[in-house]
Amino acid sequence: MRDSAQKIAILGASRGLGRALCLHIQTQGPASELFVASRKEMALREIRRGQDSLLVADFTKADDQARLQSALFEFRPNSIFYVAGGGPFGDFEKKEWKDHQWAFDLNFAFPAKLLHTMLADPSWSEFLRQFVWIGSAIAGEKPDPQAASYAAAKHAARGLVSSLQKEAAKKFDIALYEPGYMATEMLPPHAWPRQQGLAKSAEDEARELWQWSQTRIK
Ligand SMILES: NC(=O)c1ccc[n+]([C@@H]2O[C@H](COP(=O)([O-])OP(=O)(O)OC[C@H]3O[C@@H](n4cnc5c(N)ncnc54)[C@H](OP(=O)(O)O)[C@@H]3O)[C@@H](O)[C@H]2O)c1
Repeated sequence: MRDSAQKIAILGASRGLGRALCLHIQTQGPASELFVASRKEMALREIRRGQDSLLVADFTKADDQARLQSALFEFRPNSIFYVAGGGPFGDFEKKEWKDHQWAFDLNFAFPAKLLHTMLADPSWSEFLRQFVWIGSAIAGEKPDPQAASYAAAKHAARGLVSSLQKEAAKKFDIALYEPGYMATEMLPPHAWPRQQGLAKSAEDEARELWQWSQTRIK
């Protein structure tokens, strides 16, 4: 790897926005070495290049969270994009509690814990310049009926990041990027935003996300 290559970790890289971000960086970004992680190994293998690192992990499982944290520390990323997200769809009370717990863990508790570790241990700031958390322009601020636990977690992400941004200067940039509707697997084909042409492609959103993230650390 060239010394000047940026080391970028994309957590939730197998599909949708995370995959599009990997492909954007690989084709139009700077020289880079990527760290890609999520549950689906085959999909990760498809986007990984020779020099990249790959970790198969379920971000809601304690053992996998610990493995991911150590592997990330070893990789020494300059930037981390926490893209993974999801949640149960339907009336709150009709879903089991474990499904809501899953949404809280995936969309809030785990990235919050990661961020806490990275801020509390100064050795992370020897290499880390930026942590970008993907929220939601819709669920981060407004009610999202049928997706209450997902919306609660996205609201919590906004509360945490906006509060940290007002605390004394941190050793690395902490950013919340909140996309609108995107035409990914998360949004079913019959969903009204797709039908009304309101869903952006993951590729367009990834390009904007990358450009926005770079302007913050110039
Ligand atoms: N699509 C939208 O309309 C929309 C709107 C606003 C915000 N967002 C946000 O944008 C981000 C990307 O969404 P997307 O539309 O690209 O979603 P997506 O196509 O469903 O992709 C979700 C990604 O998260 C990973 N993931 C899910 N559960 C995981 C787990 N337990 N452990 C590890 N990885 C996990 C998936 O990988 P594996 O399946 O391989 O684990 C996949 O790479 C999310 O944070 C989402 O909340 C989406």
